[in-house]
Amino acid sequence: MRGLAAGNWKMNGTGESLSEIEALLAAHPTPGCEVLICPPATLLARLASMVHGTALKVGGQDCHAAASGAHTGDISAPMLAEAGADYVILGHSERRANHAESDAVVAAKVSAAQAAGLKAIVCVGETEAERDGGRTLDIITTQIEGSLPEGTDPACLVIAYEPVWAIGTGRTPTTDQIAEVHAALRAQLADRFGTDRIALLYGGSVKPSNAAEIFAIPHVNGALVGGASLKAADFGGIIEALSAA
Ligand code: 13P
Repeated sequence: MRGLAAGNWKMNGTGESLSEIEALLAAHPTPGCEVLICPPATLLARLASMVHGTALKVGGQDCHAAASGAHTGDISAPMLAEAGADYVILGHSERRANHAESDAVVAAKVSAAQAAGLKAIVCVGETEAERDGGRTLDIITTQIEGSLPEGTDPACLVIAYEPVWAIGTGRTPTTDQIAEVHAALRAQLADRFGTDRIALLYGGSVKPSNAAEIFAIPHVNGALVGGASLKAADFGGIIEALSAA
């Protein structure tokens, strides 16, 4: 399976930031893995036309479950596709926490994304209190069950394991902790979909200095990267580590 290095810019980036993409393309014209940038929606169409014909793909950070309608401020999956997105991140812990997105809401968005021809990157992960309470695998299994609707196409699905306490903190789980969750995800998805070809990403404080170690963990097929995806040099280091894995 080809690895996926996905950058989630979150609420960062203006037109100026596109110079980082120019630098990234110049340094890595033919990466040995799939490379994706999910910029803020304001930059999506510009970025898509900029990377057209290159190895770099673009994606959205969220979508609404409906295709259109009276939903001020929201963006639909067909709109993302029309703007040039191939992927959309769904159920990120920041959306689950800041916008009260339940597993059912995420599931409805996955259906909408796949109907629009987008690949869905569905995020799951435990809080620190849940890990301390020994509930990590329970939480993740339940999130996967509830966030993947009936009719999910496994060929258009990516899962990102992002422990909430590792996001933006500089802290990462041990390799054993990541391995345990990824093995459980692999087993659960194989059981449900009959395939072991769904890419499983790790996310949370991935940087060039820890990327190789993370990519050596069984069933880690890439990374969902926040802060370190904003700078071409940092994201480039992660792309190199994944290409060599
Ligand atoms: P950081 O890489 O900044 O920890 O963010 C991870 C993340 O939330 C990616 O979606």
